[in-house]
Amino acid sequence: MLDLIIRNAKLSEFGDLRDIAIEDGKIRAIESQVLAEGVEVIDAEGCLVTPPFIDSHFHMDATLSYGQPRINQSGTLLEGITLWGELNPTQKVDDFRVRALEFCHWSIAQGVLGLRSHVDVTDKNLIAVEALLDVREKMKSYIDIQLVAFPQNGFLRSPGAKQNLLQALEMGVDVVGGIPHFERSMSDGAQSVRQLCEIAADKGLLVDMHCDESDDPWSRHIETLCAETTRLGLEGRVAGSHLTSMHSMDNYYVSKLMALMAEADMQVIANPLINITLQGRHDTYPKRRGMTRVKELIENDINVAFGHDCVMDPWYSFGSHDMLDVAHMGLHVAQMTSVEQTQSCFEAVTDNAAKVMQLENYGIAPGKNADLVILDCGSIFDAIRLRPARLHVVRRGQIISTTKRSKPSVTIEGNIREVDFRL
Ligand code: FE2
Repeated sequence: MLDLIIRNAKLSEFGDLRDIAIEDGKIRAIESQVLAEGVEVIDAEGCLVTPPFIDSHFHMDATLSYGQPRINQSGTLLEGITLWGELNPTQKVDDFRVRALEFCHWSIAQGVLGLRSHVDVTDKNLIAVEALLDVREKMKSYIDIQLVAFPQNGFLRSPGAKQNLLQALEMGVDVVGGIPHFERSMSDGAQSVRQLCEIAADKGLLVDMHCDESDDPWSRHIETLCAETTRLGLEGRVAGSHLTSMHSMDNYYVSKLMALMAEADMQVIANPLINITLQGRHDTYPKRRGMTRVKELIENDINVAFGHDCVMDPWYSFGSHDMLDVAHMGLHVAQMTSVEQTQSCFEAVTDNAAKVMQLENYGIAPGKNADLVILDCGSIFDAIRLRPARLHVVRRGQIISTTKRSKPSVTIEGNIREVDFRL
C-alpha cells in the first residue's frame, strides 16, 4: 500500500513530468503515471522536485545568537571573536539547545534535511556538545545531523583541548575536527593534523578540518592533510573545509597539490558567503575573493560541496539557512555561469554535500529514501536564479513543511497583473 504519490513532478533528468510513488518511507517507483486509489496525493503541477538540501559545514553552537550580548557593529571577524568571548561563558546548556532547535525548524522550512555542524570542544565543560547531542537525538527523524569535534582555539594551542576532544568523541560526536592554521606555528599545525588523523584512523571516524582559512599562500596544511590521509588509508573520509589559501597560492604549486588531493580523494567544502565576507580584508585594491579554486577542483574530479557556515551569529549577521543563497553566491564568486557549472553549484548543496557526509540512500530514484523538496520553479537554473519557495518538504514519505506560493500584484493604470518571475 502506497503512502504518498507526488504527481506531475519535474525531475531534472526527464523531459516529461513524472509521478513519484512512495511506500514505507522509500521511493517505490517513478513513472509517467502511477495508478492508485485512496492514497494521499500532492500535485506538483510541473514544479521541480529535488533531493533535500544538505549543509556540510555549519556551526550550530553559535547560530541565532545575533544581538547577544550586543550586535557586531563593525561586522568584522575581530569584533565577532570578542563578542563570542563575551557571550560563550554566559551560555547554559539550555541556551545552546533552544537556539539549535529553533534553527532546525528554519532548516526544515528551507528543505535542508542533512547538516554537519562543528561544535567547539575547547570549553572544558563541553556543554555545547551536550546540548547538540541532545538536539541530534531529538531531530533524528527529521534531519540527519553529524557533529564535528572542533577545537576552535587550537588542538595544541588550547590547554586541555586534546582531552576534551577525546571526551566529546566518547560522548558520541561523529567526526574529528581541527584548525591547523590557528596553531602557534606551521610545524604545530602539521603536528595537529597528524595527531587528529591518527585519532580518526584509530577510532574509524571521518575527519573534517577547518584548513588554511587564510589569505596566506604559504598556509599549506592541506598538503599535510592529504599526506596523512594517504598514509593512514583514510581516502574519501577526510574533508578540507574552507581551503581559502588556495585562492592565493602559486599556480605551479597548486598543480602539484591538486594531484595530491585527487590521490587522497579529499572532500572539499567551500563556504562562499563567509569566504567572500571574511577573506581579502587586509587587501586594498585589487581585493581577493578568497574562495578556494572550486572550478579547477571540480575539473580535477575532486568532490566539492558548499556550506552555509554561519547564520546570525557573532561572525555573520545574515542568512536564513537557504542553501540556494549559498549556491547563488558560490556561482557568482567562482564565475561558474555556464550551464554545466550552474548544475555543479546546485550539486554542491545537494549530491556532493551528501557524499561528504556519506549519507546513505540519498537521491531521487526507486529504492532511495523518500526525502525530497518541491520547489516553486521548473528548473535548476530557476532554482538558483529565484531561490523560490519550498512548497513541500517530505521526509521518509511524510510532509514536514509547507510554504504557500506567493506572487506580487502590480497595478499599472488601474490594471492589476500578477507577476510570475519563473521561466
Ligand atoms: Fe566554519
